[in-house]
Amino acid sequence: QRNQLAPTPPMGYMTWNYYADKITEQDVKSVADAMVANGLRDAGYEYIFIDDGWQGGRDKKNNFIPDVEKFPSGMKALADYVHSKGLKLGIYSDAAPLTCAGYTASLHFETQDAKTFAAWGIDYLKYDYCGAPSDQATAKARYKTMADALSASGRNMPLGICEWGGRQPWTWAAAAGGSLWRTAGDIRDKWAAANDAPGTPAGGVGILDAVNINAALDTYAGNGGWNDPDMLVVGLYGYKGPSGDLGGVGCTDTEYRSQMSLWCLMAAPLMVSCDITKMNAVTKQILTNKDILAIDQDKLGKQAVRKIHANDWQVFVKPLENGETAIGILNTAGTSRKFETTLSQLGLAGKYHTYNVWTHEEKQQQQRLSYTVASHETVVLRLRSTK
Ligand code: GLA
Repeated sequence: QRNQLAPTPPMGYMTWNYYADKITEQDVKSVADAMVANGLRDAGYEYIFIDDGWQGGRDKKNNFIPDVEKFPSGMKALADYVHSKGLKLGIYSDAAPLTCAGYTASLHFETQDAKTFAAWGIDYLKYDYCGAPSDQATAKARYKTMADALSASGRNMPLGICEWGGRQPWTWAAAAGGSLWRTAGDIRDKWAAANDAPGTPAGGVGILDAVNINAALDTYAGNGGWNDPDMLVVGLYGYKGPSGDLGGVGCTDTEYRSQMSLWCLMAAPLMVSCDITKMNAVTKQILTNKDILAIDQDKLGKQAVRKIHANDWQVFVKPLENGETAIGILNTAGTSRKFETTLSQLGLAGKYHTYNVWTHEEKQQQQRLSYTVASHETVVLRLRSTK
């Protein structure tokens, strides 16, 4: 029943957290150039998702047009540029008259807008739900209308459903034609809501908040339809957006590495959002680690099951296509602690070779796991049965 427009979780760069609605064509080109130069493209990040703020209203025939100041060359030329770099271009609209930031949106123009996006060479649509009725039936119907319009356009454009989880999209979004659906509110550059600094604007979830919502939904994810706990905040380091209102307080590198680990274990879409034209070596290493990316993109398409959630430990188990298993051990306490378990407690029988995807340490013939885990760290292991 699921379309396979996104057989594995989509990977790319989303413009919202860094550029917000100040995004321009020059920014998009710089992002494309950076993705090629810094290895993100070759690591598998294939989309640039233009978020809210590109719109310039409609022309006399009601055709959607970009803001001519921000996108003077037009979207077709920009898509051509992005494609020439071996990347794909996503765009953003909303199932109401106006978007979340107050720009022109697509309600009642779904067929016409889908054709316009196809003519421009767009490859993905993030479709938001601000300004739309709160009931689930309307949401499902409006998303299906747009999914059908995209499909009728003749161009492959996965639909990203953005309604923050309030209407339980995991129960209907795939049937409505969505390839992924947000499960939580907007993510902020912070570990958890409780660590908001005094004076920080309220609202938005932290990394741990999004994990706690998303982890419970593992049975709904699968090839072609993914739970989306929102963007990677890796590398933002407290950046608050061009208008200073995005509420980030910053995370430690350990916390950023944890977000990457947990998103990959949960088979989440990977949408980078920091300034990749100037990212530091740690950020680059987190975002391009081949072993963690392979866990996210594993073709079996399983979201990890959270097998342990007690005493400030969370342990995730993700089966992989080749019979191996990925395990993540998250310490949510404020201090470094030792974690110990037998592998049989995690449902694994016999002995295992373990490979730590961040330290590259290997151990032979393990029946137990024993790891010291720093506060807010996630140790990620890849296990191969050795009988
Ligand atoms: C909503 C979405 C965000 C972003 C903004 C744009 O808040 O959840 O991801 O797209 O709208 O206005």
